[in-house]
Amino acid sequence: MKTRLSLILLLAVLSFLLVVAPASHTQNPQNVEERVNALLAQMTLEEKLGQLQQLDGEGNGNFRPEHLDLIRKGLLGSTLNVRGAQRTNQVQRVAMNESRLKIPVLFGFDVIHGYRTIFPIPLAEAGSWDPALAERSAAVAAQEANNAGLRWTFAPMLDIARDPRWGRITEGAGEDPFLGAAFARARVRGFQGEDYGAADKVLACAKHWVAYGAAEGGRDYNTTDLSENTLREIYFPPFKAAVDAGVGTLMSSFNAINGVPASANRFTLTKVLREEWNFDGFVVSDYTSVRELINHGIAADEEEAAVAALNAGVDMEMVSRSYNTFGRQLLYSNRLSAATIDEAVRRILRIKFRLGLFDRPYTDETREPASLLRPESIRLAREIAGRSMVLLKNDRETLPLSKNAGSIAVIGPLADDRRAPLGWWAGDGKEENTISPLAGIKAKVSAQTRIGYAKGCEVKDESTAGFQEAVNLAKASDVAIVFVGEIADMVGEAASRASLDLPGRQMELVQAIHATGKPTIVVLVNGRPLSVGWIVNNVPAILESWMGGSQSGNAIADILFGDVNPGGKLPVTFPRTVGQVPIYYNHMNTGRPPEAENRYTSKYYDAPWTPLFPFGYGLSYTTFKISNLQLSAPRIGPNGMVTVTVDVENTGKRAGDEVVQLYVRDPVATMTRPVKELKGFQRIALQPGQKSRVGFVLGPEHLAFWNREMRYVVEPGEFRVMVGTNSVDVIEAKFEVTATR
Ligand code: NOJ
Repeated sequence: MKTRLSLILLLAVLSFLLVVAPASHTQNPQNVEERVNALLAQMTLEEKLGQLQQLDGEGNGNFRPEHLDLIRKGLLGSTLNVRGAQRTNQVQRVAMNESRLKIPVLFGFDVIHGYRTIFPIPLAEAGSWDPALAERSAAVAAQEANNAGLRWTFAPMLDIARDPRWGRITEGAGEDPFLGAAFARARVRGFQGEDYGAADKVLACAKHWVAYGAAEGGRDYNTTDLSENTLREIYFPPFKAAVDAGVGTLMSSFNAINGVPASANRFTLTKVLREEWNFDGFVVSDYTSVRELINHGIAADEEEAAVAALNAGVDMEMVSRSYNTFGRQLLYSNRLSAATIDEAVRRILRIKFRLGLFDRPYTDETREPASLLRPESIRLAREIAGRSMVLLKNDRETLPLSKNAGSIAVIGPLADDRRAPLGWWAGDGKEENTISPLAGIKAKVSAQTRIGYAKGCEVKDESTAGFQEAVNLAKASDVAIVFVGEIADMVGEAASRASLDLPGRQMELVQAIHATGKPTIVVLVNGRPLSVGWIVNNVPAILESWMGGSQSGNAIADILFGDVNPGGKLPVTFPRTVGQVPIYYNHMNTGRPPEAENRYTSKYYDAPWTPLFPFGYGLSYTTFKISNLQLSAPRIGPNGMVTVTVDVENTGKRAGDEVVQLYVRDPVATMTRPVKELKGFQRIALQPGQKSRVGFVLGPEHLAFWNREMRYVVEPGEFRVMVGTNSVDVIEAKFEVTATR
């Protein structure tokens, strides 16, 4: 037993080291600094300001012809959206052959969950609770993007989102900072590898720094107001993890934080990022967010906007041109210092050198076609989609279905749709390379099985004209599978929703199909939590398929017909109604925690206080039991560690995966602490009847918090440890942290 525990401990330490060890670069750091300084010394002011500018292409991956002239004159350092090896090479040749100092252009693009091979939306991928998968999908995305001439992705998106109204919840890892940090590390490593200058890697950009996900009312771009404790404990950790993993760039966000816009926020951009975390890469603004400082009301004009952003620590300006246009006069009127401009240029050049751009500015055009949609990339997309989906309900073993079923009705506006699965920011993904659920099901069943299809209604409009056809089909079939949810346009940027209900007439369609009395399965295709209480209360089986990428239809069929046993878990709480938002598992207690029988407790008059599905929730075709929770010590010193172990047993009849989740609570402290916080998780595979011992190590970094004096401390006293298969169903133990060793 003892050796086993030490092995668990050793493995935990090793995996920690493996995961957090920062990326190295093949470029010798001293050489890089020397080359940066030598180049900087030759640059004119205009050329320096040019390096601080990023401009958008023309659409469809094309560059704007006028940009070639800017590049020729040394006035443009980076583009976004220009892609395709031939095009980027064409642009790069101008920089390398026709500009005075031959500073290569840095080509960026939003490669968020795939370039051509599209993986599940990041929220879904977090539902796999398997960061190693995210590392692999990011690596495929990097390889495809690099071969398409790109060197920089505006990803990973690391915003914690506690509000599903906010459309961009789809792009992140959900509501939890610990899970978010694990996925942040994995994605940075997947995109950048050991050396982001390598031929199949890209530079990553942790965004949006910071608190963008806390937009008030879930309304995109809206302001935020958060205590420094909340920033440090909830919103910063994924970014800290990315910086520790060697991320080369960050993007400053659109929102204001406590009255100071993130793109002019010295506290976040300089004090935290540079002084506390020692970040030495560069920060790019979000799209026109420098000029938007005028709308925020902290700058009277573009000159003031440029001063505020550059002085705060935004090095590169995306799309607006305040630095470029006004830099000269701001310098000569002493409103900007030469040192500030030089430092921003230095940070950008440093990354360009580390990327190896000066030595290898071009992309091998012959490699691009074969690098896209490789068979192994497609296989991985299918595997990850299957591991990301979450089985929300499965009464009476409705699922899995038999591949030899007589007849199946495939119904709903998203049943034969190939756009929604690609989600928002679908890179260069194409519908023609995407498998719809209907196609996936047809490919899965036996030759004798009859598959009927009826759309029923659209996602958005109000027509019920197609209901009768769908109902007739269901009546004539043995079982009905209904695909409902959201179209891609309803999630992502500028797609906040005031309702979390199924849009249009989709709920009525489900009700009409259910009313036929045929066994009905609902598959949700969506990019955010939805309040689908009626379905949960009435329909026997529900699969959350998210927006599962190019292979979504195949992955759905793998699960529906039992080739894959679902093991995903929700990375975000599902509310019963939008009125409960924000609702998240790691909330603070109140003085009056909710009690059913006591009116004067913290709850709603007209809705339950509990969620529809809690964070961490998800079922399997088998069952698991967690028992025998043991701690290695009843008490530890303030810097001590305790090992937590449990038995996990597959008590059902199929092989399957369980995500064992570890939560901690500090019940009495000098500040109110969350009712529980995720501090460990492991997804493990078990054969039927197999039992395994799973271990976690808890140390100071899991027990500490930011106190009233804004110091990061472990306070002595009791700690509760909870282990379970979701954030609600847990078994508990306690230990004590003593004041001295
Ligand atoms: C605005 C978005 O907020 C950001 O995430 C994205 O990277 C840029 N546009 C560039 O497309």
